[in-house]
Amino acid sequence: MKGVILAGGLGKRLYPLTKVTNKHLLPVFNKPMIYYPIETLIEAGIRDILIVTGGSSAGDFLRLLGNGKEFGLKHINYTYQEGEGGIADALSLAEHFVGNNRFVVILGDNIIEKGIKKEVDIFRKQDEGARILLKEVDSPERFGVAEIENGRIIKIIEKPKRPPSNLAVTGVYMYDRYAFDIIRTLKPSGRGELEITDVNNRYLKKGKLTFGVMDGWWTDAGTFESLLRANNLVYEKLLKMEKKK
Ligand code: DAU
Repeated sequence: MKGVILAGGLGKRLYPLTKVTNKHLLPVFNKPMIYYPIETLIEAGIRDILIVTGGSSAGDFLRLLGNGKEFGLKHINYTYQEGEGGIADALSLAEHFVGNNRFVVILGDNIIEKGIKKEVDIFRKQDEGARILLKEVDSPERFGVAEIENGRIIKIIEKPKRPPSNLAVTGVYMYDRYAFDIIRTLKPSGRGELEITDVNNRYLKKGKLTFGVMDGWWTDAGTFESLLRANNLVYEKLLKMEKKK
């Protein structure tokens, strides 16, 4: 199983923090943000990793991470997204790297308490299609939201004004290689981006989308409030671990 971390985009919601650097290089408590998705993939047993980045600080990823020695890796793959065409546009750059494999995608600003190994292991046994992870949240209108009927997802709506549930679609997606065929057919959304929600809805229509609910806390870190929350959650987690020692 391969892993793809999407760390492009301009991080406009964090301006001026992102005026001279990439969002994913900002600190989340004691580490740069990008460390967290890398650790999440490694903990799930994924060591073949591609980082998609962009903007004018892309070279800083190489200076920071090199070949991934700090994470016990021998090599990290990098690619560059021109502009900010959306999550699915960033993912399309992974096609060559993924080849015929299945893969796990994680958004570079997603921070997870407990890891995703259990879920990735379930996907390893899934013959084909995609698997997404949901999480209950207080403000679902900020996310992609799953509409559920009789325990099944019937639709995913991107940033709904009236959310049909409090189950956000987290930024962890597992796909087979057909994701790239789907992306090729997508049209930009109202915000001018190729949306990952459209990819997921396409799998759903084919009856090939499964889901799990994330264990422990999950947050993104792409707004001032969520970045602060991410810092606090990581700090509290480390405090708890210290006390247990
Ligand atoms: O965090 C989960 C949410 O992420 C999902 O619930 C939504 O369905 C999904 O659309 C996404 O929503 P956001 O609006 O929060 O995504 P954002 O634009 O902040 O991008 C998230 C990450 O994706 C960002 O940290 C880097 C990567 N990205 C984004 C864009 C727009 C790219 O690599 N390239 C891009 O062009």
